Amino acid sequence: QPPGPAAGAVQRPVVVAHRGASAYAPENTLPAVDKAAALGIGWVENDVQRTKDGELVVLHDDTLVRTTDAEQVFPDRAPWRVRDFTAAEIARLDAGSWFSPAFAGTRVPTLRQYLRRAERDGTRLLLEVKNPELYPGIERQILDVLDSEGWLDRRHLAGRLIVQSFSADSVRTVHALRPAVETAFLGSPATADLPRYAAFADAVNPQAGSLSAAYVAAVHALTGPHGRPLKVFTWTVDNPSVARTAAGYGVDGIISNKPDVVSEALDAA
Ligand code: G3P
Ligand code: CA
Repeated sequence: QPPGPAAGAVQRPVVVAHRGASAYAPENTLPAVDKAAALGIGWVENDVQRTKDGELVVLHDDTLVRTTDAEQVFPDRAPWRVRDFTAAEIARLDAGSWFSPAFAGTRVPTLRQYLRRAERDGTRLLLEVKNPELYPGIERQILDVLDSEGWLDRRHLAGRLIVQSFSADSVRTVHALRPAVETAFLGSPATADLPRYAAFADAVNPQAGSLSAAYVAAVHALTGPHGRPLKVFTWTVDNPSVARTAAGYGVDGIISNKPDVVSEALDAA
């Protein structure tokens, strides 16, 4: 029996590659998953939205402008909203050149493609339901894709998948539809309101700037829907000293564009 942490010792938080290892490869693409895995990072975070014809795709912004060449390929389709394009149209776009010529030709992945790559690479997934108010019913659709790709089997549900959102309604819906799935609320509810979130979220994930030891302790003091203490994954931390401070507060996870930098900072602490 290996010894556990000494009494009072703080567990090292897990590190999550934000939008994949997005400081080194175009965010929310398959190369960003590969890069996270190559760096030895166990978790990737992504953002899921829906196309005009109902395909789930991995993209952060609600328009295609910043991270693809949609303006060049479809010059008359302003404002280039994700939900105004079909999956076939989005599949034509270059989602890598904006980041670096080395990634020219990289595509916007569908959720299904993304899940297969994360599975191949052995990474766990923090899946964000992005802008759910724009996509009625997206929670059920995400769960269906996760299910059909094997991501709701016993192995994945035992700590390989968390579904999160800034929308409490969306997190509540995911929990109601598939109570076995771990969920997280993105934000920092007032301490007095935290018990309401503990009814449907296993974690509360605040921005690093709003974090304190007292807040982390208040979250940890609550029991989530699976009978375990609520967790805290904070975002988005690329600075080693901020990472060490968050670890000192006792966070369970740190979400970072430079997960290798944060990992090294935690190892050196
Ligand atoms: O996972 C936390 C973080 O991704 C939330 O903010 O805007 O990067 O999706 P954003
Ligand atoms: Ca996100």
